[in-house]
Amino acid sequence: MREVLRVEDLTSSFLAPQGVVKAVNGVSFSLRENQVLALVGESGSGKTATALSILGILPYPGKVLGGRVFLRGKDLFAMSDEKLRRVRGKEVGIIFQDPQASLNPTLTVGTQVEEVLQAHLAISRRDAQERATEMLAQMELPDPRRLLGMYPFQLSGGMCQRVMLAIALALRPNLLIADEPTSNLDVTLQAGILNHLKRLKQEYGTAILLITHDMGVVAQMADQVAVMYAGSIVEYADTRSLFRHPSHPYTWGLFQALPRLDNTDRRLRPMRGTPPDLMNLPKECPFIPRCLKATNVCRLSPSPTLRTIEPGHAVACFNEVRYHWDQEPVVRRS
Ligand SMILES: Nc1ncnc2c1ncn2[C@@H]1O[C@H](COP(=O)(O)OP(=O)(O)O)[C@@H](O)[C@H]1O
Ligand SMILES: [Mg+2]
Repeated sequence: MREVLRVEDLTSSFLAPQGVVKAVNGVSFSLRENQVLALVGESGSGKTATALSILGILPYPGKVLGGRVFLRGKDLFAMSDEKLRRVRGKEVGIIFQDPQASLNPTLTVGTQVEEVLQAHLAISRRDAQERATEMLAQMELPDPRRLLGMYPFQLSGGMCQRVMLAIALALRPNLLIADEPTSNLDVTLQAGILNHLKRLKQEYGTAILLITHDMGVVAQMADQVAVMYAGSIVEYADTRSLFRHPSHPYTWGLFQALPRLDNTDRRLRPMRGTPPDLMNLPKECPFIPRCLKATNVCRLSPSPTLRTIEPGHAVACFNEVRYHWDQEPVVRRS
């Protein structure tokens, strides 16, 4: 399978007046056609900043300070802004958590879908309209023709999210970046959106970078998982392997923080301690204050980098601790 996205040593900070917030610290991963990579971690761990940096749309005072990003072999950071905009518009679909905020409130749904189509495809207004209707129907939105004439405020959150998805997918992107796409939706709507994403991957081979803090979504959707802590990937593994042998104490902590007996709430709950201050990151492993396994090696060494412990499984930890389930985790790959 072809590589769609490769991120190498991506480093970004927010150069805020109070200090430099080190949001993304040397993140590397790759994503192939037909694959879903989940990016998980507590709030503030740098997931959104990673996505925005990849797309070259990190807002001020954020700045990409290093690293490279390749989209199907093309070096995105070496492109002119103009070219980057074109490539991004055509080859990358984006959906964010808050669809109402991402849609333009002053334009009808139809205008917004058609604009995307017309901006990138040489088609007439009429064909764009036709295609827009089809796209909305594909998202199982009721009465798509009528919907084209409606404004975002007239739609429910779930409908907005499906409209966003229709827009994101209008051009059959090679890559979809979905940042918490189902976080605000109820379980039924969430299942619907996730099914669309699965179909998309199966039918068109779209690669999906899926940001989520729901381990159930990870289990259901992801082929690989990258666990982020303090702006770095601390564990990077095939989903199966991660769920069987979580090998970073932080990942283990995330699983421990899941409820055990009912599987209705699979969100990450805070584990003990708090994430480090990204304005004052230590040289050593930033997880030490919350770690139950930290040793002098950890305290005296620079922060560990990812090392492969078995094929398809890497971890950034000096300890070679195997964590064992005394009770099956409720969330498993379906
Ligand atoms: N505009 C900003 N100015 C300063 N710091 C920011 C800004 N936006 C995000 N951050 C900080 O960057 C870090 C990473 O944030 P983010 O990528 O949004 O985390 P996540 O998506 O994992 O919840 C956080 O510490 C956050 O406070
Ligand atoms: Mg976020």
